[in-house]
Amino acid sequence: MCKSNAVGAFLAVFLLMVLVSAGFCAAKKKAKKEPAKEVKAEKVEVKAEPAVAKSKTLVVFYSRTGNTKKVAEEIANALKCDIEEIIDTKDRSGASGYLASGRDAMKKKLTGIKEIKNDPSQYDLIILGTPVWAAKMSTPVRTYISQNKEKLKNVAFFCTMGGSGDVKTFVDMEEATGKKPAATMTVLAKEIKKAEYKAKVEKFVKALAEVKP
Ligand SMILES: Cc1cc2nc3c(=O)[nH]c(=O)nc-3n(C[C@H](O)[C@H](O)[C@H](O)COP(=O)(O)O)c2cc1C
Repeated sequence: MCKSNAVGAFLAVFLLMVLVSAGFCAAKKKAKKEPAKEVKAEKVEVKAEPAVAKSKTLVVFYSRTGNTKKVAEEIANALKCDIEEIIDTKDRSGASGYLASGRDAMKKKLTGIKEIKNDPSQYDLIILGTPVWAAKMSTPVRTYISQNKEKLKNVAFFCTMGGSGDVKTFVDMEEATGKKPAATMTVLAKEIKKAEYKAKVEKFVKALAEVKP
C-alpha cells in the first residue's frame, strides 16, 4: 500500500469516529432534556358485587289469588334468580275454599303439594313468600317447610295481606324453619293493585344484598 492511501484510510476512520461520538453526545443531551414520561397506572374501579348476587337464591311462594305471585316474580326478576311456585292439590277457590283455608291455617294443618322442581339444598338462600291466613303462614307454605326444613340453609320471608298479622306470620315461619330470616317484607294487597310494592321490593332486595348468606 502506498503512503498516501494509508493516510487516506486513517483520515476516513478518524472522521467516522468523530461523527459517531458526536451523535452519541447529542442523543445523551436529548435524553437529559426530556424527562421520562410518567406512566400513570390506569384507574380500575372494582365494583363489589352484592353477596346475594354471588350466592344461589331461590324464591319459593304460594299464592291463592295472585298477590303473592306478583311480588315473588318482582323479587326473582330483581335478583335474576330461580323461582318455585308451590301448587296445592286441594281446591281452595271460592267462599268454601276461603273458609277451609282459614280453618286449615288456624289448626296449622298440612296439605298435599305437587312435586317441587328445584332442590332447596342447592341454594344458599331461600326467600319464602306467603299470603297471611288468620295471622299465620298459608297451609301450602307450611307444608313446603315441613317437607324441606333440613334442606334450608338461609332464609328470608315476605308476606302479602289485607291489613294485619304479618308479625305473627313471620314468627310462625321462623318457628317452622328454625331459622332467623336475613330480611322480611310485608306488602299490603292495596299496594299491589297500585304497583306501590315495587319500591318495597327494591328495598328488600337491597337489604338482602347486604347480608352474606
Ligand atoms: C283464609 C284467609 C285468611 C286471611 N287472613 C288474613 C289475615 O289474618 N290478615 C290479613 O291482613 N289478611 C288476611 N287475608 C287476606 C290475604 O292475606 C291477602 O288477600 C293476600 O294478599 C292474598 O294473597 P294471594 O293473592 O297471594 O293469595 C286472608 C285471606 C284468606 C284467604
